[in-house]
Amino acid sequence: MAREFSITPKSVPPVSSEYRKIATPLPAPETVPLLESLHHTELRAMQGQPPVVWHRAEGFQVYDPAGNCWIDWSSGVLITNAGHSHPDVIKAIKEQTASHMIASYMFPNAARARFAARFSELLPEGHKKVFLLSTGSEAVECAIKLCRTHGIKVGGRKKNIIVSFEKAFHGRTLGSQQAGGIPALKEWIVNLDAGFVQVPFPDGFRTTDTSFDFFLKCLTDLGVSGPNVCGVILETYQGGSAAFAPVEYMQQLRKWCDGHKALLVCDEVQAGFGRTGAMWGFEHYGIVPDLSTWGKGISSSLPIAAVAGRADVMDLHPPGSMSSTHSGNPVCCAAALASLEVVVRENLPAQAARKGAVLLSRLKAMMAKHPEIGCVDGKGMVAGIACVKPGTNREPHPDLAWDVVERCWHKGLLMFMPVGFGGATVKICPPIVISDEALEESLQVFEQAFAEVAAEHKLEATAR
Ligand SMILES: Cc1ncc(COP(=O)(O)O)c(C=O)c1O
Repeated sequence: MAREFSITPKSVPPVSSEYRKIATPLPAPETVPLLESLHHTELRAMQGQPPVVWHRAEGFQVYDPAGNCWIDWSSGVLITNAGHSHPDVIKAIKEQTASHMIASYMFPNAARARFAARFSELLPEGHKKVFLLSTGSEAVECAIKLCRTHGIKVGGRKKNIIVSFEKAFHGRTLGSQQAGGIPALKEWIVNLDAGFVQVPFPDGFRTTDTSFDFFLKCLTDLGVSGPNVCGVILETYQGGSAAFAPVEYMQQLRKWCDGHKALLVCDEVQAGFGRTGAMWGFEHYGIVPDLSTWGKGISSSLPIAAVAGRADVMDLHPPGSMSSTHSGNPVCCAAALASLEVVVRENLPAQAARKGAVLLSRLKAMMAKHPEIGCVDGKGMVAGIACVKPGTNREPHPDLAWDVVERCWHKGLLMFMPVGFGGATVKICPPIVISDEALEESLQVFEQAFAEVAAEHKLEATAR
């Protein structure tokens, strides 16, 4: 699936609207030296996104140095819930740097104390301890460690199994990739830890049996017994598709974990801070996990992540034994606090719910028209469109998905490369603050681009 976008400029029809402007070939010729320099200096793995040189990003728009401008449907990668360069976030970063307190390791600093207190205040009862880190993967690693530590404490060393889900993504480090459910991403791991097992995710599309009994059956088939499970970790919705589990399923999972003294971990790295139409994604399930992991939209800007959860679990390790060099960096904390206050003040969860209802209904209407759309998932301001080959049994259609992303890029609508099963899911996740007008305009662009590309693929198929 190693497709990538060419960096040789290609002429495309010009675009000029209030929110989008494309006035050069793409990528803009003046940006090619920079793209070439990165291709030369960086590893290949960093290539793959539409080659837009991000020069400035504000609100829901991204600009390149040539003045081309896109409506952003990526939020970076679900980072900018409160919008790019929110004035409050920029102000907080400026004030924090001006105070000459920009790094303090684990030594206490006021910005860390303020953000930790506010985040904790908003979290549900019994889930109030927080540990600030730098990346989502790091937060997941920490959650794995806490599950294992807790398992050993309450059930001995045999209680070490971490159950997670097929097709899940939890990060790119050794532990987080083993908790992930994408076999290709684990090919490099020589000594797979037998304590990580995956069961199908009840998405209703790729896994049609969404009953909790199926979860239990899969564990039995894998030879896993409940008393040996120390933790169950899942993305609140699967990032590769934007699919949620059924509410019933999650409530039964919550009870099952309680019954077996296994910790339930919700990976909220993509879901938190209003994205799904609720402040925290797990609210949709009417449950509170034992641990949660956070990142991306936590600051709408600088790198910061977190683990939150039950005090008795979070406090299992003694002073000094769980830390990270940049835990709670003061500039990142100042940015995170400013972003969090925007999320609360502007009620971004409600905004995401309202705009998301429009987004989802339009995407579902597209699905009714296009047999190339196998499934539309999502809630709030996140959605995934699974592209399939018409006439097949849901066979993924990555080429179509890539062509849609490319066509949108040419029309002034920016998305990241397709993700998910078979690399065939087009993911839609604009900043929550996108205006109603820009959402409407971008939906029209998307509908048109999809229809064009689908028609071209149909023509090609009949010509063959
Ligand atoms: C659900 C989920 N967990 C963890 C991660 C890893 O986060 P990071 O890239 O900050 O390490 C990601 C990143 O995409 C994610 O989507």
